[in-house]
Amino acid sequence: MLYTVAMNLNTLWTPLILVNFKAYTQAMGKKALELANMAESVSAETDVCIGLAPQYTDIQQLAQKSSLPIFAQHVDPIWPGSFTGHILPQAVKEAGVVGTLINHSERRLKLAEIDATVKMTRDMQLASVVCTNNAKVSASAAALRPDFIAIEPPELIGTGTPVSQAKPEIIIKTETLVKQINPEVIILCGAGITKGDDVTAALRLGTKGVLVASGIVKAKEPKKVLLDFAQAATTV
Ligand code: G3P
Repeated sequence: MLYTVAMNLNTLWTPLILVNFKAYTQAMGKKALELANMAESVSAETDVCIGLAPQYTDIQQLAQKSSLPIFAQHVDPIWPGSFTGHILPQAVKEAGVVGTLINHSERRLKLAEIDATVKMTRDMQLASVVCTNNAKVSASAAALRPDFIAIEPPELIGTGTPVSQAKPEIIIKTETLVKQINPEVIILCGAGITKGDDVTAALRLGTKGVLVASGIVKAKEPKKVLLDFAQAATTV
């Protein structure tokens, strides 16, 4: 199914489980496709939207072989031209992405760059998922009118200590500030999410989904974990 940003993202894609493959070799090449096929079967079984953010080199194969929404992990706010080593939004869109992460804590940007990238993704009908590290940064990001904000305290990333249970106050504060500035923004949370209860807690706090990485990509049984996430998302 062709996902277009013009459709109502809230209806189409939430609750959303967005899996960030980062630069993990467990989610690269053939293994990226295996993870995508697994995620597709979980999405079909539970009717929960699962998005994937693979490495650039795997975008095309996943977009062609999977019906799940595929996201870039970053794009540069550039138009075609002499930009060696940059990631052209038009190129990843043609490769099949429907959106992109922006300002992930492992790919931090200046405010002006976030602004330019959100504007460009809007112009190109790509969904923008701006990653933030605290409530005030989330409020600033909301003013730039992204489609999604993913609040992720960097100190919890990869720890298995879930933001939704360890730092619920940061999510609540983010929602309060963001809704004051731009009630249209869809709020996700991430960092340390490793089990269904963490997803339940995130949704009960009012977010519309989670951004996860190691809890799925580095799991001994990724399908079992993702199914636990998805089933939790259907019971809130
Ligand atoms: O993009 C999501 C990521 O930063 C969260 O990492 O490994 O704690 O799920 P992890």
